Amino acid sequence: MSKVLIPPGPKGHFLSGNLPEMRHDPLGFYLHCARTYGDCTSMRFGLKRIWFVNHPALIEQVLHSRNFTKHYALRMNRLLLGNGLLTSEGEFWLRQRRLIQPVFQRERILSYAPDMTACAERQIDTWHDGEVRDLHIEMRKLTLAIATKTLFGVDAGDQAEAVGCALREAMGTFDQRLFRILPLPDNVPTPGNWRIRKAIRRLDAILYKLIHQRRTEGQQKDLLSILLHARHESDGSGMTDRQLRDEAMTLFLAGHETTALALAWGGYLLAQHPEVVEKLQAELHQVLGGRTPTAADLPNLPYTEMVIQEVMRLYPPAYAIGRQAIGPCTIGDYPVPAGGTVLMSQWVVHRDPRYYDDPERFYPERWADGLAKRLPRYAYFPFGGGQRVCIGNNFALMELPLVLATMVQRFRFALPDGPPVVPKPLLTLQPNRPVLVRLHALR
Ligand code: HEM
Repeated sequence: MSKVLIPPGPKGHFLSGNLPEMRHDPLGFYLHCARTYGDCTSMRFGLKRIWFVNHPALIEQVLHSRNFTKHYALRMNRLLLGNGLLTSEGEFWLRQRRLIQPVFQRERILSYAPDMTACAERQIDTWHDGEVRDLHIEMRKLTLAIATKTLFGVDAGDQAEAVGCALREAMGTFDQRLFRILPLPDNVPTPGNWRIRKAIRRLDAILYKLIHQRRTEGQQKDLLSILLHARHESDGSGMTDRQLRDEAMTLFLAGHETTALALAWGGYLLAQHPEVVEKLQAELHQVLGGRTPTAADLPNLPYTEMVIQEVMRLYPPAYAIGRQAIGPCTIGDYPVPAGGTVLMSQWVVHRDPRYYDDPERFYPERWADGLAKRLPRYAYFPFGGGQRVCIGNNFALMELPLVLATMVQRFRFALPDGPPVVPKPLLTLQPNRPVLVRLHALR
């Protein structure tokens, strides 16, 4: 009989495997495993074995292979996201991706830049010198307003708030389900599943109303309207209302929470690094002289871009990616069976001293002189990679510097006394407590 070769890894408990360590400090546990056991290690979440891959070349192998589907944990979220881009697979996913991809080309999303800065200015207009605000809540409101405006052509207001609340409710219990020994399916009538269904019904009512409105109008500038008029190249057909709902819900969810987190962690880091703020303000002063930034300014703001790269290196909003093997394969020296789960973590690889000097230091200057080009592919992958790479990366890379530049020109952040904010890795990298900052007006 051939011997099953399992990569080295921490010994687990009989039933729960390594879940106790995972629940206690997931990020610390991932780092410990990578540093102790190497580029391919193994752990157990309950009865499920995980192949944990920590080398850029192996990550590339997995992300670029057709032998993997999305991780089961993401597909658990079908109830909310339906069969949208994040959760669909195979031919159906490919056909949808081909239909939606052109909508997110850089040239097409440039027209959303004024909406992004207008939303940012409106939000910042509510801030006052000396007050303390929770930057995570502020950035969530802002990115929600940007998403409702650009996706649905709707100005922020009661409707955006209602969507945001329902989305958070639907996602809240999902996060808890991630760490169960035996995840229960969506259709078991638990109080959690009942709350999710209720929140989803509220979201559906809003989305279907918007879809029907858009169907009766001519094409508008918002993404929903563009998607509604998009036609498959092969047969000229468009999307059904149900598919539009799934794609719109997916883009809405995937698009606003991640960018809010990047901005909140960015603000938290800037509050601790006045030397970075000084350089950032000098660049913004020289290029913008106090005016609102535009998309055309972005190539002239290299330091702003480095700050964003560095924020997403240290606090990647998507901190891990999971995949499931369709058929048996080999990763490095180790066989992975059909159905085997592979995990790759931006949190871990972005802190690897083989690629980054003094990896825990917030030091945007490290990106000067083309570090991004010198790094092995997948030593830095905040947007994932391969065929399932983030479809909204250009959108985010326009939104993040525009919002940051607008904020930093008007306010400086300082940290009030209190315990430090540390990341709490749920589906995304959440802060464990409010990100409180004291606002200092600059003009
Ligand atoms: C800082 C902001 C963002 C980060 C860090 C981020 C990160 C990611 C990552 C890592 C993936 C790949 C997941 C995997 O391979 O399993 C992904 C996929 C995706 N993202 Fe983003 N994202 C961001 C912003 C956005 C925005 C603004 C949108 C839309 C407006 C968006 C829509 C999507 C969609 C639809 C997918 C699934 C693509 C597919 O599988 O075809 N994301 N994102």
